[in-house]
Amino acid sequence: MPRLSTWTLSVLPLLVLSVAYLAQSYISPLGPAPHLGFGLRWYGITFSSLVGHAQALVMSPFHALSKAQLALSGVAVDAAADVDPRPKFKRRIVAVGDIHGDLLNAHRVLQMARVVDEDGLWTGEVDVFVQTGDIIDRGDDTIALYEWLEELREQAHGMGGIMISLLGNHEWMNAIGKPAEYVFPSEVETFGSISKRQRAVTTGWLANIWASNYTTAARLPLHALLGPPNTDYPPPEDSQYQRANAGPLSHAAFSFVHGGLAPSYPNLQPFPSAINNISASLFHRLRSRDPQPPPHPPHAYPGLPAGTTREEARLYGSDGPLWYRGWAEEGDEARLCAQADQVLQKTGTRRMVMGHTPNLHSIVAKCGGKVLIIDTGISHAYGGVLSALSVEYTLEPVDGGGWREQEVVKALYADQDDELLAHATRDLAENELF
Ligand SMILES: *[C@@H]1O[C@H](CO)[C@@H](O)[C@H](O)[C@H]1NC(C)=O
Ligand SMILES: *[C@@H]1O[C@H](CO)[C@@H](O)[C@H](O)[C@H]1NC(C)=O
Repeated sequence: MPRLSTWTLSVLPLLVLSVAYLAQSYISPLGPAPHLGFGLRWYGITFSSLVGHAQALVMSPFHALSKAQLALSGVAVDAAADVDPRPKFKRRIVAVGDIHGDLLNAHRVLQMARVVDEDGLWTGEVDVFVQTGDIIDRGDDTIALYEWLEELREQAHGMGGIMISLLGNHEWMNAIGKPAEYVFPSEVETFGSISKRQRAVTTGWLANIWASNYTTAARLPLHALLGPPNTDYPPPEDSQYQRANAGPLSHAAFSFVHGGLAPSYPNLQPFPSAINNISASLFHRLRSRDPQPPPHPPHAYPGLPAGTTREEARLYGSDGPLWYRGWAEEGDEARLCAQADQVLQKTGTRRMVMGHTPNLHSIVAKCGGKVLIIDTGISHAYGGVLSALSVEYTLEPVDGGGWREQEVVKALYADQDDELLAHATRDLAENELF
């Protein structure tokens, strides 16, 4: 952490530069505009939020600005001092697959990817951190992991970052009442007893966290113009993001689910709310069972509750987003990639990211990185490589007009060389963005 004096000294220049930046940004197509209304958290470039953060800093000198926000004051410096007033947009995303009860390895992975520091605190160097589910089972650290991740969520929020958490098939199995074969007795002890554990995952604190802060699917726009995380594709007619999502940036987004988005799955649109609404209603149905089924074993596995709709059952079925393994299967790559294109087209995305099917040696990229399978068995239960997916997205002005979009997708490893999985650039004409 930089010292206090550094923060204090940065306040005044930040305010001055903000004013200069405001003046310049009005002639920029990416500058303040009515539909750019929600501030630094997503744009990192609007005036009011710069001032807001500077003010927060003045009023609360112990509240440090994140490095992302500092980088932002760097944007302001460039914009004010340079000839080209059009700001560069940059976003760094990290995604991590199945963690399965291993706090130590999870910490190593997040630290390696610079999501957290050595004390396990949010660094602010990453704009969005995504975890694709299966945090529970096969290890002892269930409680510690969820508690840590909820703390991180708060820290991220306070520093302008975002954490996206998905439910995996193991979270669902526990919520339904079928944990038995994957749960270690030593893990049950951390909850006190099998029935206390059962309560936590069905109606208790863990079920509450899942219900409020986890979803089954996520769509993450790469650029703020397309809206915040989980902006639907296609967007509704009256959406402020309608225009951007129909323009040249339209599919500049990634999807994240635990298992995979099958081409045959009927509820791909609008993405992700069709899936997440079904997910929320099934989750609610499970939580409102009264009485809750007794723990399995010794009692029988209860299965999905009475009244489960066909859509809810399909969500949890073998071609649903929680269990599907089709993208991990070997086979005719050309056919698979054609199917991937269909799914990407429907979901308004360029690449789809998933966990669930471990490859213990590396992150698996297919179809030029359009299909990214990031479960490398990082829990010691599997003993796979410690990995994280890193995405760096930039949209920057090109000298003489126009914009260049760039996506750099990498596999980061703790104990082997990082690997470039995809590097895509696109040039956009000056007037194409609006
Ligand atoms: C969900 O996350 C927020 C922080 O973003 C936190 O305040 C809230 O307590 C969490 N929900 C539950 C049920 O823990
Ligand atoms: C999902 O649920 C929200 C809130 O209930 C609703 O506004 C929205 O229209 C639903 N979307 C779909 C696709 O069902």
